[in-house]
Amino acid sequence: MTDSATVPGSPFRKAILMAGGSGSRLHPMTRVINKQLLPVYDKPLVYYPLSVIMLAGIRQVLVISSNRDVPAFRELLGDGSQWGMRFEYAVQQEPRGIAEAFLVGEEFIAGEPVVLVLGDNIFYGQGLREKLLVALGRDIGATVFAYPVRDPQRYGVVEFDEQGRAIAVWEKPRHSRSRYAITGLYFYDAQVTALARQLKPSLRGELEITDINRWYLEQGRLHVERFGRGFAWLDCGTEHSLLQAANFVEMVQERQGFKIACPEEVAYRMGFIDAAQLRQLAGQFRNPYGEYLTEIAESG
Ligand code: TTP
Repeated sequence: MTDSATVPGSPFRKAILMAGGSGSRLHPMTRVINKQLLPVYDKPLVYYPLSVIMLAGIRQVLVISSNRDVPAFRELLGDGSQWGMRFEYAVQQEPRGIAEAFLVGEEFIAGEPVVLVLGDNIFYGQGLREKLLVALGRDIGATVFAYPVRDPQRYGVVEFDEQGRAIAVWEKPRHSRSRYAITGLYFYDAQVTALARQLKPSLRGELEITDINRWYLEQGRLHVERFGRGFAWLDCGTEHSLLQAANFVEMVQERQGFKIACPEEVAYRMGFIDAAQLRQLAGQFRNPYGEYLTEIAESG
């Protein structure tokens, strides 16, 4: 495996996958099982954001979760070599906020730019790869992705002026002036760790990713890419959204015969593994998932 990014010239070689949290909105389902390990139709939730990282050509990933759950992630994902990846693991002792990723992951980041993705976010639709390429090409500043939603008060939100320039970011505003939520996929330059070190917990006691984004905005270095209405961004934080996501995946997959966020397939199509390796992975399943992988390996 090479350590360099697959996208030529991109400064991004590393990603952090945040898979901790308390999952309190999904209790009792998440009392003993981590939210990111719950099924979304035919695969664990964590496969979906992980596939986005892989599509970005990034092969070094730090998975952050709780002390209790890191062993389960390690068992599920291993060291990543089966998919041509390299996975490391770290513990977030308490869910003290998404921005703590940069403190827990400081050694892993080692002063490089880094991608952050939330373990309960699903991205699907045409144009994803193009948007990723735009973000991957920037070596200064931060890139976040905005998406119009009906209930912006549940999210970090970005407000635009009439020219479409980002002018403010808010965390879960009670009355939002904008419909644009900031999704759980972020690209940061090498400054982010130093910034995270200066953060103070918010009123709800968390290190807020919105505070990081606000700093970049104030510096004139926050790039906001918008996903359009033809794109699907789903989060799986509530029983309703989790079921909706499963139904969505089932519907698209049944209709097209292609799987959404199948890491074995992505690894193969990205050239991280070859057809023989894919066939070997397929052999570990005696079910339609395995048959799907075999078909891909045979059809090239
Ligand atoms: P949230 O949905 O904000 O929180 P949660 O997962 O703890 O769920 P709930 O609100 O129902 O209690 O988290 C968004 C994502 O970030 C999710 O994938 C979990 C992850 N996360 C961490 O890994 N560590 C943290 O400290 C926080 C706050 C979230």
